[in-house]
Amino acid sequence: MKVSIIGAGGLVGSCAGFALQCGGVVREIALLDVNADAAAGQALDLLHGAPSTADQVITSGGYEHIPDSDVICITAGLRRKPDESRLDLINRNVDLFLSILDGIRQAGYRRDAIVHVVSNPVDILTYLAASRLDLPPQQVIGLGTQLDTIRFRALIAQQMRVSPTQMSALILGEHGDSMVPIWSSATIAGLPLDKYPGWSPNLANELFTRTKGSGAEVIKKKGGAGFAVGIAIRDVIESIALDQQRILPVSTVQAGCYGIRDVALSVPTVVGRGGAIARHELELWPKEAQGLRNSGNVLRQTLQTVLQRIGR
Ligand code: 2OP
Repeated sequence: MKVSIIGAGGLVGSCAGFALQCGGVVREIALLDVNADAAAGQALDLLHGAPSTADQVITSGGYEHIPDSDVICITAGLRRKPDESRLDLINRNVDLFLSILDGIRQAGYRRDAIVHVVSNPVDILTYLAASRLDLPPQQVIGLGTQLDTIRFRALIAQQMRVSPTQMSALILGEHGDSMVPIWSSATIAGLPLDKYPGWSPNLANELFTRTKGSGAEVIKKKGGAGFAVGIAIRDVIESIALDQQRILPVSTVQAGCYGIRDVALSVPTVVGRGGAIARHELELWPKEAQGLRNSGNVLRQTLQTVLQRIGR
């Protein structure tokens, strides 16, 4: 499987390339960036590690890599400032993103290609990609709250001093301020979290608040996320590459799940070679389902503003 990463000269895209290299699953990784030297430098740096990681083709270049790509991952975009919301990025990143979509259309792409949107605001840009590319909606997948979910799991596991791989918890909705913690399904090694020794409602609030602020916290400390977002991207792309059909909280244009339509956000989604091949409307607590609908409303307001500005 060939993966092209647009924006790979930057932190998010290069970390995604490194995560895919270490995963050793995809056959070819092409790094694309408007700064061609930066993409070439990242590709060379990855190539140097190849003998000790995996037998893959690692290249860089331009949109000539798009027509034979199985997955087109879009990470390009300006990063927000610590005190900015992801939705604040709207005006700066939408125009850049539309130009990338034009480039993809002009280059041509496979009918079975999967477009994986990472750039922020990811839910809004996922909707725009689905509406502007001539692909079935299930073949346009935003990273959504997969990054928030692994952050959430990591912070709870650290607090509870348990193995992070045995910590199961979920964030759904917007990859942004209205994201929703799904406590109803949180478990440690299959044991209900809310019955676990040392757990408390205060701890729940504290850890969710820290999760929601993690993007800004990392930006403040080191300028922006890289390693964990690269891992989250690898989770999605390898589920596609291996047709693992993992259930992941990724962003797709909704068509009625939880009563939400015509906006992209994250619900439990089966991810395989065909993209988002199914979505599960698992039973949630009433306040969780309400939170999800609120996410949809928040995103739809922003989306309407964007669509009015750019024309549908
Ligand atoms: C984050 O939360 C980049 O949106 C991403 O760090």
